[in-house]
Amino acid sequence: MKTRDRLRIAMQKSGRLTEPALDLLKRCGLTFRQSRDKLFCFGEGEPVDLLLVRDDDIPGLIEQGVCDLGIVGRNVLDEFSLTAGIDGAPLKEWRPLGFGRCRLSVAVPQEMAYESATSLAGQRIATSYPGLLGRWLRDAGVDAQVVTLAGSVEIAPKLGTADAICDLVQSGGTLVANQLREVDVLLESEAVLAGPEALPTDERGDMIELLLKRLDGVIQVSE
Ligand code: PRP
Ligand code: ZN
Ligand code: MG
Repeated sequence: MKTRDRLRIAMQKSGRLTEPALDLLKRCGLTFRQSRDKLFCFGEGEPVDLLLVRDDDIPGLIEQGVCDLGIVGRNVLDEFSLTAGIDGAPLKEWRPLGFGRCRLSVAVPQEMAYESATSLAGQRIATSYPGLLGRWLRDAGVDAQVVTLAGSVEIAPKLGTADAICDLVQSGGTLVANQLREVDVLLESEAVLAGPEALPTDERGDMIELLLKRLDGVIQVSE
Protein backbone atom coordinates (compact mmCIF):
# COMPACT_ATOMS: atom_id res chain seq x y z
CA MET A 1 0.00 0.00 0.00
CA LYS A 2 1.38 3.39 -1.07
CA THR A 3 1.71 5.74 1.90
CA ARG A 4 -0.32 8.92 1.85
CA ASP A 5 0.35 12.03 3.83
CA ARG A 6 -3.21 13.37 3.55
CA LEU A 7 -5.93 11.87 5.74
CA ARG A 8 -8.76 10.18 3.81
CA ILE A 9 -12.24 9.68 5.25
CA ALA A 10 -14.82 7.42 3.58
CA MET A 11 -18.47 8.37 3.77
CA GLN A 12 -21.81 7.57 2.18
CA LYS A 13 -22.14 8.98 -1.34
CA SER A 14 -25.88 9.54 -1.21
CA GLY A 15 -28.23 8.55 1.56
CA ARG A 16 -29.46 9.42 5.01
CA LEU A 17 -25.98 9.93 6.47
CA THR A 18 -24.53 12.10 3.70
CA GLU A 19 -25.81 15.58 4.63
CA PRO A 20 -25.40 15.30 8.43
CA ALA A 21 -21.89 13.84 7.97
CA LEU A 22 -20.79 16.73 5.74
CA ASP A 23 -22.38 19.17 8.15
CA LEU A 24 -20.52 17.66 11.11
CA LEU A 25 -17.17 17.85 9.30
CA LYS A 26 -17.90 21.46 8.37
CA ARG A 27 -18.53 22.25 12.04
CA CYS A 28 -15.13 20.68 12.74
CA GLY A 29 -13.62 23.36 10.52
CA LEU A 30 -13.13 21.24 7.40
CA THR A 31 -14.11 22.55 3.96
CA PHE A 32 -14.03 20.65 0.68
CA ARG A 33 -14.09 21.09 -3.06
CA GLN A 34 -16.02 18.27 -4.78
CA SER A 35 -14.64 16.57 -7.88
CA ARG A 36 -16.71 16.66 -11.07
CA ASP A 37 -17.75 12.99 -10.73
CA LYS A 38 -18.72 13.69 -7.07
CA LEU A 39 -16.74 10.69 -5.81
CA PHE A 40 -13.95 12.66 -4.16
CA CYS A 41 -13.86 15.81 -2.03
CA PHE A 42 -10.55 17.62 -1.77
CA GLY A 43 -9.90 19.27 1.60
CA GLU A 44 -9.14 22.96 1.13
CA GLY A 45 -7.72 24.00 4.52
CA GLU A 46 -6.51 20.89 6.33
CA PRO A 47 -4.91 17.83 4.68
CA VAL A 48 -8.15 15.81 4.92
CA ASP A 49 -9.98 14.44 1.86
CA LEU A 50 -13.26 12.55 1.50
CA LEU A 51 -14.06 9.48 -0.57
CA LEU A 52 -17.79 9.15 -1.34
CA VAL A 53 -18.80 5.50 -1.61
CA ARG A 54 -21.56 2.98 -0.81
CA ASP A 55 -21.91 2.72 2.95
CA ASP A 56 -21.50 -1.07 2.88
CA ASP A 57 -18.03 -0.66 1.31
CA ILE A 58 -16.70 1.66 4.04
CA PRO A 59 -15.38 -0.90 6.59
CA GLY A 60 -13.55 -2.82 3.84
CA LEU A 61 -11.91 0.37 2.54
CA ILE A 62 -10.60 1.11 6.04
CA GLU A 63 -9.41 -2.45 6.56
CA GLN A 64 -7.53 -2.32 3.25
CA GLY A 65 -5.93 0.98 4.20
CA VAL A 66 -7.50 2.80 1.23
CA CYS A 67 -9.11 5.16 3.78
CA ASP A 68 -7.99 6.03 7.31
CA LEU A 69 -11.43 6.62 8.82
CA GLY A 70 -15.07 6.24 7.86
CA ILE A 71 -18.41 7.68 8.85
CA VAL A 72 -20.81 4.75 8.81
CA GLY A 73 -23.72 3.22 10.70
CA ARG A 74 -22.84 1.04 13.69
CA ASN A 75 -24.98 -1.66 12.04
CA VAL A 76 -22.68 -1.78 8.99
CA LEU A 77 -19.51 -1.68 11.11
CA ASP A 78 -20.62 -4.46 13.50
CA GLU A 79 -21.88 -6.65 10.66
CA PHE A 80 -18.51 -6.31 8.92
CA SER A 81 -16.63 -7.22 12.10
CA LEU A 82 -18.79 -10.34 12.52
CA THR A 83 -18.52 -11.56 8.94
CA ALA A 84 -16.16 -10.12 6.30
CA GLY A 85 -13.74 -8.53 8.73
CA ILE A 86 -12.70 -11.59 10.72
CA ASP A 87 -9.35 -12.05 8.95
CA GLY A 88 -8.14 -8.46 8.88
CA ALA A 89 -7.00 -5.97 11.50
CA PRO A 90 -9.90 -5.21 13.87
CA LEU A 91 -11.84 -1.99 13.37
CA LYS A 92 -12.90 0.22 16.22
CA GLU A 93 -15.81 2.56 16.83
CA TRP A 94 -13.85 5.71 17.72
CA ARG A 95 -16.84 7.98 18.38
CA PRO A 96 -20.64 7.76 18.25
CA LEU A 97 -21.73 10.79 16.19
CA GLY A 98 -25.29 11.40 17.42
CA PHE A 99 -27.13 11.32 14.08
CA GLY A 100 -28.64 8.65 11.84
CA ARG A 101 -30.25 6.97 14.84
CA CYS A 102 -32.17 3.79 14.00
CA ARG A 103 -32.45 0.22 15.26
CA LEU A 104 -31.95 -3.23 13.82
CA SER A 105 -35.12 -5.11 14.64
CA VAL A 106 -37.00 -8.30 14.01
CA ALA A 107 -40.46 -7.76 12.51
CA VAL A 108 -43.20 -10.25 11.72
CA PRO A 109 -46.47 -10.12 9.74
CA GLN A 110 -49.27 -8.45 11.75
CA GLU A 111 -51.16 -11.71 12.24
CA MET A 112 -48.19 -13.87 13.25
CA ALA A 113 -47.99 -14.79 16.94
CA TYR A 114 -44.76 -13.74 18.63
CA GLU A 115 -43.74 -14.29 22.26
CA SER A 116 -39.95 -14.18 22.12
CA ALA A 117 -37.06 -15.27 19.89
CA THR A 118 -38.22 -18.86 20.46
CA SER A 119 -41.26 -18.10 18.26
CA LEU A 120 -38.83 -17.93 15.31
CA ALA A 121 -37.64 -21.56 15.67
CA GLY A 122 -37.79 -23.31 12.30
CA GLN A 123 -38.85 -20.09 10.52
CA ARG A 124 -37.15 -18.33 7.59
CA ILE A 125 -35.92 -14.81 8.41
CA ALA A 126 -34.89 -12.41 5.63
CA THR A 127 -32.13 -9.90 6.39
CA SER A 128 -29.15 -7.96 5.04
CA TYR A 129 -27.44 -8.57 8.42
CA PRO A 130 -26.78 -12.33 8.61
CA GLY A 131 -23.90 -11.84 11.06
CA LEU A 132 -25.84 -9.79 13.62
CA LEU A 133 -29.00 -11.87 13.24
CA GLY A 134 -27.04 -15.14 13.45
CA ARG A 135 -25.35 -14.04 16.66
CA TRP A 136 -28.67 -12.99 18.22
CA LEU A 137 -30.30 -16.31 17.30
CA ARG A 138 -27.32 -18.27 18.66
CA ASP A 139 -27.39 -16.29 21.93
CA ALA A 140 -31.09 -17.08 22.24
CA GLY A 141 -30.48 -20.74 21.39
CA VAL A 142 -32.91 -20.56 18.47
CA ASP A 143 -32.48 -22.59 15.29
CA ALA A 144 -33.91 -20.62 12.36
CA GLN A 145 -33.07 -20.25 8.68
CA VAL A 146 -31.40 -16.95 7.77
CA VAL A 147 -32.20 -15.78 4.21
CA THR A 148 -29.70 -13.11 3.13
CA LEU A 149 -31.03 -10.37 0.82
CA ALA A 150 -29.19 -7.22 -0.33
CA GLY A 151 -32.29 -5.02 -0.17
CA SER A 152 -36.10 -4.77 -0.16
CA VAL A 153 -36.09 -7.16 2.78
CA GLU A 154 -39.51 -5.95 3.96
CA ILE A 155 -41.40 -7.46 1.02
CA ALA A 156 -40.03 -10.99 1.54
CA PRO A 157 -42.92 -12.20 3.76
CA LYS A 158 -45.48 -11.02 1.19
CA LEU A 159 -43.54 -12.76 -1.58
CA GLY A 160 -43.54 -15.94 0.49
CA THR A 161 -39.74 -16.18 0.57
CA ALA A 162 -39.51 -15.57 4.34
CA ASP A 163 -41.73 -15.76 7.46
CA ALA A 164 -40.14 -12.83 9.28
CA ILE A 165 -37.53 -10.13 8.68
CA CYS A 166 -34.66 -8.42 10.45
CA ASP A 167 -33.93 -4.92 9.11
CA LEU A 168 -33.32 -1.32 10.09
CA VAL A 169 -36.21 0.71 11.46
CA GLN A 170 -36.12 4.48 11.68
CA SER A 171 -39.60 6.01 11.42
CA GLY A 172 -41.29 2.60 11.14
CA GLY A 173 -42.95 3.72 7.91
CA THR A 174 -41.56 0.88 5.80
CA LEU A 175 -42.83 -1.71 8.30
CA VAL A 176 -46.32 -0.17 8.35
CA ALA A 177 -46.40 -0.05 4.54
CA ASN A 178 -45.65 -3.78 4.48
CA GLN A 179 -48.05 -4.78 7.30
CA LEU A 180 -45.20 -5.85 9.56
CA ARG A 181 -44.84 -5.24 13.31
CA GLU A 182 -41.59 -4.75 15.17
CA VAL A 183 -41.20 -7.39 17.90
CA ASP A 184 -37.56 -7.34 19.09
CA VAL A 185 -34.61 -4.93 18.89
CA LEU A 186 -31.16 -6.46 18.21
CA LEU A 187 -29.08 -3.28 18.01
CA GLU A 188 -29.49 0.45 18.64
CA SER A 189 -27.58 2.13 15.84
CA GLU A 190 -26.35 5.59 14.83
CA ALA A 191 -23.59 7.02 12.66
CA VAL A 192 -20.13 6.42 14.13
CA LEU A 193 -16.57 7.38 13.30
CA ALA A 194 -14.86 4.09 12.47
CA GLY A 195 -11.15 3.43 12.09
CA PRO A 196 -8.45 0.86 12.73
CA GLU A 197 -7.76 -0.01 16.36
CA ALA A 198 -4.14 1.06 15.81
CA LEU A 199 -3.99 4.58 14.36
CA PRO A 200 -1.23 5.57 11.92
CA THR A 201 1.89 6.86 13.69
CA ASP A 202 2.70 9.56 11.10
CA GLU A 203 1.17 13.01 10.41
CA ARG A 204 -2.13 11.33 9.64
CA GLY A 205 -2.27 10.04 13.22
CA ASP A 206 -1.69 13.58 14.51
CA MET A 207 -4.47 14.86 12.23
CA ILE A 208 -6.83 12.15 13.55
CA GLU A 209 -6.11 13.19 17.14
CA LEU A 210 -6.84 16.82 16.25
CA LEU A 211 -10.06 15.79 14.49
CA LEU A 212 -11.19 13.70 17.49
CA LYS A 213 -10.59 16.68 19.79
CA ARG A 214 -12.65 18.98 17.55
CA LEU A 215 -15.39 16.33 17.24
CA ASP A 216 -15.65 16.07 21.01
CA GLY A 217 -16.10 19.85 21.24
CA VAL A 218 -18.65 19.99 18.43
CA ILE A 219 -20.67 16.99 19.68
CA GLN A 220 -20.74 18.34 23.24
CA VAL A 221 -22.06 21.70 22.04
CA SER A 222 -24.89 20.12 20.03
CA GLU A 223 -26.04 17.77 22.84
C1 PRP B 1 -33.68 1.68 5.27
C2 PRP B 1 -33.91 0.33 5.93
C3 PRP B 1 -35.39 0.19 5.94
C4 PRP B 1 -35.90 1.61 6.00
C5 PRP B 1 -36.39 1.93 7.39
O1 PRP B 1 -33.65 1.50 3.90
O2 PRP B 1 -33.26 -0.70 5.21
O3 PRP B 1 -35.84 -0.44 4.77
O4 PRP B 1 -34.80 2.46 5.67
O5 PRP B 1 -36.78 3.28 7.50
P1 PRP B 1 -38.21 3.72 8.05
O6 PRP B 1 -38.42 2.98 9.33
O7 PRP B 1 -38.08 5.20 8.28
O8 PRP B 1 -39.21 3.38 7.01
P2 PRP B 1 -33.22 2.67 2.91
O9 PRP B 1 -34.40 3.12 2.19
O10 PRP B 1 -32.45 3.74 3.64
O11 PRP B 1 -32.26 2.03 1.87
P3 PRP B 1 -31.46 0.62 1.77
O12 PRP B 1 -32.31 -0.43 2.41
O13 PRP B 1 -31.33 0.42 0.30
O14 PRP B 1 -30.14 0.81 2.45
ZN1 ZN C 1 -26.70 0.36 2.44
MG1 MG D 1 -34.35 -0.62 3.02
